[in-house]
Amino acid sequence: MKKNLKLDIKNTQLAEALKMTKQKLASASPKAKQEKKTAKKATSLAKEEPPKRKARILNNPFAEEKLTEEVKVQKELTSEKVEAPKEEKIVEKKPQEETKVQKTTEEKKAPSKEKEKATPAKIFIGKKPKAAGPKDFHEFSPTMRRKIAPKFDSRDRMGLRDQEELWRRKRYKPIKKKVSEEEIVRPKQLAVRLPISVKDLAQEMKLKASQLISKLFMQGITLTLNDYLDDETLVQLLGNDFGCEITIDTSEADRLQITSKTIKEEISASSRKDLNLRSPIIAFMGHVDHGKTSLIDAIRESNIASSEAGAITQHIGAFRSKTALGLITILDTPGHEAFTEMRERGANVTDIVVLVVAGDEGIKEQTIEALNQAREAKVPIVVAINKADKPNFDEQKIYRQLADNDLLPESWGGTVITVNTSATTGDGIKELLEMIQLQSEVLELRSNPKTRARGIVLESEMHKGLGAVATLLVLNGTLRKGDPMVFGNYSGRIKTMQDEFGKSLEEAPPSTPVKVTGLSGLPEAGCEFIVVESEKEARKLAAGREKGHKSGLTKTKKISMESLLEKESEAQQKVLPLILKADVQGSLEALKNSIAKIKSKKARCEIVHEAIGEISEYDVKLAAASNATIIGFHTRVENNADSLIKQLKIPLHLHNVIYHAIEDIKAQMTELLDKLEEEKDIGIAEVKAIFKSSQLGLIAGCQVTEGSIHRNHLIKLIRDKEVVWKGKLASLKRVQDDVREVQKGLECGIVLEGMRDVREGDKIQSYEIIYHKQTL
Ligand code: GTP
Ligand code: MG
Repeated sequence: MKKNLKLDIKNTQLAEALKMTKQKLASASPKAKQEKKTAKKATSLAKEEPPKRKARILNNPFAEEKLTEEVKVQKELTSEKVEAPKEEKIVEKKPQEETKVQKTTEEKKAPSKEKEKATPAKIFIGKKPKAAGPKDFHEFSPTMRRKIAPKFDSRDRMGLRDQEELWRRKRYKPIKKKVSEEEIVRPKQLAVRLPISVKDLAQEMKLKASQLISKLFMQGITLTLNDYLDDETLVQLLGNDFGCEITIDTSEADRLQITSKTIKEEISASSRKDLNLRSPIIAFMGHVDHGKTSLIDAIRESNIASSEAGAITQHIGAFRSKTALGLITILDTPGHEAFTEMRERGANVTDIVVLVVAGDEGIKEQTIEALNQAREAKVPIVVAINKADKPNFDEQKIYRQLADNDLLPESWGGTVITVNTSATTGDGIKELLEMIQLQSEVLELRSNPKTRARGIVLESEMHKGLGAVATLLVLNGTLRKGDPMVFGNYSGRIKTMQDEFGKSLEEAPPSTPVKVTGLSGLPEAGCEFIVVESEKEARKLAAGREKGHKSGLTKTKKISMESLLEKESEAQQKVLPLILKADVQGSLEALKNSIAKIKSKKARCEIVHEAIGEISEYDVKLAAASNATIIGFHTRVENNADSLIKQLKIPLHLHNVIYHAIEDIKAQMTELLDKLEEEKDIGIAEVKAIFKSSQLGLIAGCQVTEGSIHRNHLIKLIRDKEVVWKGKLASLKRVQDDVREVQKGLECGIVLEGMRDVREGDKIQSYEIIYHKQTL
């Protein structure tokens, strides 16, 4: 109350003072009055406050509430006239700045005493008495704040304004040093591991990758930064070009290879006392349907041939058979041309090849192929001239053909053993076995059963419950259940081991074919397996091999004119995207190779995905995404994928016989080709006269001179042996009636659709377009 009373008194005093001043001002001229008024106000204030402070208070938003009511009124009056300098506005909000400005302005005018007086005022501005209304800058409304201090920002608040130079530090820019080529010390000698990426080699050689790339390009090899070089000579030549002697570090490759010795070398390196006689491995090879499986059936007293799809062998079969002459291991190979790799694998792991030739048919393409593969593998050959029971059996013809192929039979004075056999009657089987026995005795087949097992993967398949299953043929050492092993890029620990009848085995001595599980991945058919110390080591080796395999995937590409032309022709070809699924690695390989052999300039197959096992949901989705056809060979569709196939309408073709699959793929490729158009002439009508009709326009009065003119035929207008127009008939009339067809010798009226320039003597040729299917 007291406070309010005081304020009221002050206000009345102020009001009076104000009145007085106003009256005085009114009496003077407006401009002079104004100046006078300002000067007076200033002097009156100067009595109480130092001049600087006055101005500051008048403009300082913070100080506003601290002014007495008197001063406030004064400020109101002068606010329009007296404008504080711009810097001062900022200065007022910041104690640091204040001091600075004071120094510059006051130093000149006011003595140091005045400065001292001004200082407590600053403190006063900063610390406001609580009762005096809004006390802090931030207590003003944002709009007000903007008016008071348009430039006030966080930098002022942080006290950084006068240290702007420090605050705006220059960003550090590293100065690039130019290193001249001469300064780089390039290594004169290097040891690198292959394969090596272009980038890494450049780094090792202290070169720019572009230098290597351009050097390679000059040699006709296009590579990018991340492509790998795997050619020893190429890397060394590159080194030479830049004055660096490169040696190839093979230590890692050697470690991953485990041993540099082949199985045969390893056996011959074993001590004589460790070597035992082993049963021979016999591969039956020859042309399709010449009786290989039937002969094996006759030896084993089994009946495999009757259960084969398409009555042909499509998998490599491995059996151990007890004969009157002891144990033998038999490999049955397919005779169909698609299975070249299987035959090759058979020839490579076998001790003796039994070349089966049907006595009625003679030597055929796959007989010669098998013959060459056996020769390549340096394996002795025993010829079984089969189907001796057949009436047109001609052994002399076969001898002649054998002799033509550098296989002179014993009966003709040569060294090649031949036996006439009949799988149907069993004739000659005993003799054949005797000959095999004889040959194996000559070869004196030995192995070391005490050493770690080593051999070859004959086949591999993906089993739904068991995972990867592989058929292995032990060639040296003894394979035991639980053995850790490496094969290709995979490792494994033998979980289960079975013979061909599904009987569980604890160990498999040399020459034993076994089915094993417990593998980390699906091994490639034909790859070698080797037992190692521990599972850990096996995993480590497999991982190392995998790494090397991945980096070596990009092979060096040579550019040649042919390859460029090939690419161009490829771009024009129609593409049939395929997803291949097969039961085992070998059949997939055979299918793939057969597809690759379909050569056409018009169309080609593109294998989007290939895998072993049943057709899964993933395959279906992939087919939908890539517009591919699924080809299943010797496999079936998983239950859940079946409905998806129907839903997404994915083309699915299942086959059990390779040649059916290939024929189907060829037919699909043919379907892709555009149909060929052919114009077939049907008839000719000669224009005899031209009539004009208000309804129809120009009517050509014609006589059909050849064939017939049909209402729906296409028309060519021929003038002076040149086609001047092509189109359709608008009308075909006989006298007054519309007709469908006009035969040779008859007259008719023809109106051509959209053609008004028909002349006498023109020929109207009718024709049809026939579409022909193209061949591949
Ligand atoms: P692929 O495995 O497909 O290369 O054929 P393959 O060489 O195994 O022939 P396979 O044993 O399947 O026999 C083919 C056909 O010839 C069958 O129909 C057999 O019955 C028949 N055949 C095989 N051996 C003889 C034989 O000694 N005499 C007669 N008359 N027919 C035989
Ligand atoms: Mg067969």
